[in-house]
Amino acid sequence: MTSPPDEPPSSASVGSELSSTAPAGAGAVGERRTAPEPSSAGKAEGPPPPTSAGEFLDEILQRKSELFRGSREVLRDSYVPSRLPHREEEIRKVAEILAPSLRGELPSNLLIYGKIGTGKTAVVAQVRQDIQRRAQKSNEVQFITVNCGNIDTAYSLLQTIGNGFARAEADRIPTGWSLDRVQGAMRRLMDAWGGTTLLVLDEIDRLVARSGDNVLYTLSQLNTELETSRLGIVGISNDLKFTNQLDARVRSRLNEEKIVFEPYDAAELQDILRDRAKEAFKDDVVDPGVVERCAAYAALENGDARRALALLRLAAEMAERDHAKRITPDHVVKAKNRLEQDIILDCCRTLPPHCKVLLYAILQLFERRRSGVLTGEVYESYRRLAERLGLQPLHARSISNYVSELETLGLVRATIVSRGRGGRTREILVDVPISETMPALEEDPLLAPLGRPKNRGQMLLMNFDNPNRSGPF
Ligand SMILES: Nc1ncnc2c1ncn2[C@@H]1O[C@H](COP(=O)(O)OP(=O)(O)OP(=O)(O)O)[C@@H](O)[C@H]1O
Ligand SMILES: [Mg+2]
Repeated sequence: MTSPPDEPPSSASVGSELSSTAPAGAGAVGERRTAPEPSSAGKAEGPPPPTSAGEFLDEILQRKSELFRGSREVLRDSYVPSRLPHREEEIRKVAEILAPSLRGELPSNLLIYGKIGTGKTAVVAQVRQDIQRRAQKSNEVQFITVNCGNIDTAYSLLQTIGNGFARAEADRIPTGWSLDRVQGAMRRLMDAWGGTTLLVLDEIDRLVARSGDNVLYTLSQLNTELETSRLGIVGISNDLKFTNQLDARVRSRLNEEKIVFEPYDAAELQDILRDRAKEAFKDDVVDPGVVERCAAYAALENGDARRALALLRLAAEMAERDHAKRITPDHVVKAKNRLEQDIILDCCRTLPPHCKVLLYAILQLFERRRSGVLTGEVYESYRRLAERLGLQPLHARSISNYVSELETLGLVRATIVSRGRGGRTREILVDVPISETMPALEEDPLLAPLGRPKNRGQMLLMNFDNPNRSGPF
C-alpha cells in the first residue's frame, strides 16, 4: 500500500495555528491599553500620522485590539474549536460508526441531518481530525471532504475524489474525458493506494438537486468494483427530506446509519458562546448580558450557532468602531439590526427582475400610505412601473405567485381581507426597512431610473457612467 498525497491544510489546522499565536497572559485588566489621546495644543507626540496607503496599512496592522485577545478567526465559521459543547453524544455516535476504519474494516455509510448551524460540519471535522491523528502511523484511512455546494457536476465530483489520490501531476484526471473514463481512473487511483477512504459529502442535498442521484448510485456501489481499497460515505444535509428524491437502492445504501442534530436552545448557545468568547476576547471586556442576548436572538433563529457567533463577532466589531473599551448589550442590538439588514438586502439583490419591480411597487405604495396595500393596487402600480422601465408587464397570476415568493422570503406579509359581498383580496404589509431596501433595489441598472433625485455629485457621476442618459445635467 502506498501512502496518499498530503491534503492541503484543513481549515481546522489553520485555525488552531492562528489561535496558538495569542500572547500568553494577554488580557490582564491592568494591561488594558487605552486609545491614544489626541495631543494637546497641537504638540506632535510619537510618530507622525500616516499619509500614504502603505503607511495606513502599516498602522492598521500594528494597531493592537482593545478587545480581541489574538486572531479574530476564532469567531469565524472556518475555525474548528477544540471543544464542541452539547455535541458530545453526536461526536460519540459519529466516532463509533467511523471507528471500524481504524481497524481496517469498512464502516457503515452515514447520513447526518440537522438544521443550519447545528454543528454538523464541525462535529464531522472534529472526528476526522481524531481519526486522522490515530491513522497517521498506519496510513490506512484517508478522508476526502467535498462541499457539494461548490461542485456543479458528477464529473467534477469524481474528478475531485480521484485527484485526491493522484501522487504525480501525470496521474491527475483532466477535464474533457467521458464520465466512464473518469470513473475508471478514479477507481484505479484509489486501488493504487489501497486503504479505506471516508468520503464526506457536505451539503449532499445540493449535489442531488443539481445533478440527480446517478453519481451517488455510482459511489454507493463502488465497493463491489474496488479491488484493494474501500469507500465509506458520510452525507451531511440540512434538508431532512432530500432522500425522498433518491432511487430506493441509493437511499437504503446511504442510510445504513442516520443521526439527526437537534437545534440548540438558548442555554446551549450561551455555553457555546462563552467558550468562544473566552478564547477570542481579553478578560473583562464582555459586559453581562452580551452572550445572553446573542444566544436569545439566535435561539429564535432556529438555534443556529453560526448566527450566534456572527452576532458576537459583529457586536465586537461595532464596539471597536465606537472605540469602546467593552462590548455591551447595545452593541449586540446594533449588530442584530445590521445582520438582518445585510441578509435582507442580499436577498433583495438576488430577486428576478420582475419580482424586484413588484417589490419596489409595494414599497412605494406602503411608503405613501404607511398601511397595508391591496393586491389590485399593487398590480396596477407594478404595471405602471414595468411600462416605465420598458418591460412587458407579467400577468396578474404570475405577479400573485411572486407576492407569495416575497412572503416566503419574509420580505412582505399578506393577509386575506374580505371586501364585502363575499369578495376577498390580499392585503400586503411590508416587513423590510423601506429606506434601505429601495436604494438596494435601485442598484440594479434596470431599476435605476426609478431612483429618487440624487444630490448633484451623484447625478454627475451617474451621467458620467451612462452618457446616453438624458437628465438635468
Ligand atoms: N457545539 C458547538 N460548540 C462550538 N461551536 C459550535 C458548536 N456547534 C456549532 N458551532 C459553530 O457554529 C458554526 C456553525 O456550525 P457548523 O458549520 O458545524 O453547522 P452546520 O450544521 O454544518 O450548518 P449548515 O447546515 O449551515 O452547514 C461553526 O462556526 C461551528 O464551529
Ligand atoms: Mg455545514
